[in-house]
Amino acid sequence: MFTDTHCHIYKEYYEDIKKILENAKECQINRMINNGCDKKSNEEVLKLSTQYKNIYGALGIHPENVDTYKEEDLKEIENNLTNPKIIAIGEIGLDYHYTKENKNRQIELLEAQLQIAEKYNLPVIIHSREATEDTINTLKKYHVKGVIHSFSGSKETALIYIKMGYLLGINGVITFKNSKLKEVIKEIPLENIILETDSPYLTPEPFRGKRNEPKRILEIAKFICELKNISLEELSKITNENIKRIFDI
Ligand code: NI
Repeated sequence: MFTDTHCHIYKEYYEDIKKILENAKECQINRMINNGCDKKSNEEVLKLSTQYKNIYGALGIHPENVDTYKEEDLKEIENNLTNPKIIAIGEIGLDYHYTKENKNRQIELLEAQLQIAEKYNLPVIIHSREATEDTINTLKKYHVKGVIHSFSGSKETALIYIKMGYLLGINGVITFKNSKLKEVIKEIPLENIILETDSPYLTPEPFRGKRNEPKRILEIAKFICELKNISLEELSKITNENIKRIFDI
């Protein structure tokens, strides 16, 4: 059995969540970590993690919401961290793809959430896009563990994150024909990676372009098994141990 360690299962993308869970189970995916990105999605994450026993939740404010979130949204996150189904702070991070102009405010928001993670001893789920240097420097200031979600950097960057104690979240990007990620992952020990879909985004080949869902973990897993020449059972065992180490589930 596999775990989808990063997805966005919200009603605006999926009308029948029960069906999504059934599809996942048929493809050997029995758990998922649903990530919030703003006040509204955090509320949904909380609700679904209460409703379904195999959906865990992460609460956070995504960097793309840095200009619209309110201080009280962070308070609200903090108020729900004693809930046993909320197992991480995420999705949080830095994204300079569209603009760098608000980078100081992005770093401030990230630091505020890293402080919460530190205070409650929870792992973090980090989004970093075109912001590697600032991400590394900011994370180094806090004693937290976690995952670099949707990792697609170089081997050098991978080794820096690993040395800092972070796992690399690998998704459908590894199956894309123009992606260099497979070359990097070939050389990285499996003890440092976990699998994710980032549903509804980043659907793996040969389904690229369609809406993603947690069942597609199986395509990503098969791709990595071929790359590393191991069985699905071995990959499942190792990645579940990695998840246990960081998220304690
Ligand atoms: Ni995401």
